[in-house]
Amino acid sequence: MTSPEVFAARRARLQQSLTRPSVVVAGFARPRNFRANRYPFRAESHFLYLVGKPLEGAVLVIGPDGAVLYAEPPDPAEALWGGPMPSLEALSRELGIEVRPIDALELPGPVALLPPQDRESACWLEERVNRPVDAGGAELEGADAALADAMIALRLRHDGAAVAELREAARVTALAHAAGMRATRPGVRECVVRAAMEAAIIECGMTTSYGSIVTVHGEVLHNERHDGWLAAGDLLLADVGAETRGGWAGDVTRTWPVSGRMSGSQRALYQVVLEAQIAAISAVRPGASFREVHRTASRVLVHGLCDLGVLVGGEEELFERGAAALFFPHGIGHLLGLDVHDMEDLGDRAGYAPGRARSTAPGERYLRLDRELEPGMCVTIEPGYYRIPFILDDPLALGDLASAIDRSVLDRLSDVRGIRIEDDVLVTESGSEVLTASIPKTIPEMEALIGS
Ligand code: GLY
Ligand code: MN
Ligand code: MN
Repeated sequence: MTSPEVFAARRARLQQSLTRPSVVVAGFARPRNFRANRYPFRAESHFLYLVGKPLEGAVLVIGPDGAVLYAEPPDPAEALWGGPMPSLEALSRELGIEVRPIDALELPGPVALLPPQDRESACWLEERVNRPVDAGGAELEGADAALADAMIALRLRHDGAAVAELREAARVTALAHAAGMRATRPGVRECVVRAAMEAAIIECGMTTSYGSIVTVHGEVLHNERHDGWLAAGDLLLADVGAETRGGWAGDVTRTWPVSGRMSGSQRALYQVVLEAQIAAISAVRPGASFREVHRTASRVLVHGLCDLGVLVGGEEELFERGAAALFFPHGIGHLLGLDVHDMEDLGDRAGYAPGRARSTAPGERYLRLDRELEPGMCVTIEPGYYRIPFILDDPLALGDLASAIDRSVLDRLSDVRGIRIEDDVLVTESGSEVLTASIPKTIPEMEALIGS
C-alpha cells in the first residue's frame, strides 16, 4: 500500500502551482437499474491520485494555503447495509490530512474544478459553485484549465509509488493472461476464457481496469461480446488488464490460437505484427516523439504486408499514402496510469502537447498521444492487423489504395480476422522497460501454454 506521505507530497506539489482554491471530487456510484442496485463505486482518478482512498461523495478542497478533505461521517443507518465506517478522526489519522464533515463544506468564493464523470456529482457541484458543470466535459477554460494542466504536469511522469502500483497491475495482468491461455480449448465460449482471466484478477483482490475484450472477432476493436464459440482454426484476441486496489491500470492484449497451433497464414501475419510491436518498443526512449513511434510501427507493418504480397507497390510510397491504416486503423498506444487511457477525462489535453491537435488522416486520427516521451511516462504499445469489412469492402475508405491490395493473397490469409499485441512500457532515463514482459508473446511461448 502507498503510504500517506506519498499523497501528502503529491498534494504539496500541486499546491505550488495553484493560485486559487480547487475542488477535486471523488464522485458517486452510478445506479445500475435502480438506486439500491449500483455499479461498484470507482472514485475519480484525480481524487485517488491526491487522497489514495475511494471515499464515495468526498471532496478535496486544495489551495495555495492547504488542503482539507470533506467526507461523510459514519451513519448508523448506512452501517446496517454497508458495514461500519471509520470516524472522521480515524480517517484523518489514516490519510494524514485534515478531515471535516461534508455538510460543513463552504467554498470560499470562485473555485477551480475538474468536471466529474458522473451526472450526480456534476449536479452536486453545480449547486455549490453556482455555475454550470458539464459531467464528463473536457472543454475547460480559465482556472479549470489551469487546474487540469497542473494535474497533468503531476500525473504525466509517474513517481516511485505510482510505478510500484503499475508494476503490481502488470504482475496480476500477467497472471490473467497465463490463465486465459491455459483455459483456451476448442468448443468452449469466449466467456469461459474471460472468466478464467478475470478470476485470476479477482483472486488477487483486484478488479479489471476496463471491460475485458475476449473474442474470436478481434477485427471489432473494442468487442464487448463474449458469447462466441471457440473453433479450432480461430485466433482468440484477449485485451484484459488488472486494476490495483489503489486504482492503477494494466492494459495488455495477446492473440493466440484456439487449437494451440497457428496455421501458416496466422503465423505469417502474427510475426508481422510482432515485428512492428518490437520495433515500436525499441523506439520508446526519452525525447522520442510518440507520433514517430506510431509511424515506426506503421512502416514495419507496411513492409511486412508487402513481403507477404498483401500490399503491392513501393513500400515507402504506400506508407506515406496511409496504407498501414487499412489494416491498423487505430493509434499505436496511449498514456497509462490511474486510467487505462490516462487522463482522457480531460480530452486531448493530457495526450497532446500544447499547440498540437489531432490529425484527420485515417492512420493518425485515433492517435491518443502526441508528445515527446519523458522518463516516468508509461505508455502502451499496441499495433494490430485487422481485416475490417467496413474498410476493406468500402471503396470510399479504400480510395486509390484499392489497387494496392492483392485480393487473392488477402483471401489466402482469411483465417486471420484480428491480431493485436499490447504491452505496457515505462519510459526510463536510458530507454524503456516493458512492465508486462513476462507475458508470453512469441509463438512458441504461447503455444506451450495454451490448453495446458
Ligand atoms: N484496452 C483498451 C485499449 O487498449 O486501449
Ligand atoms: Mn491500450
Ligand atoms: Mn488494451
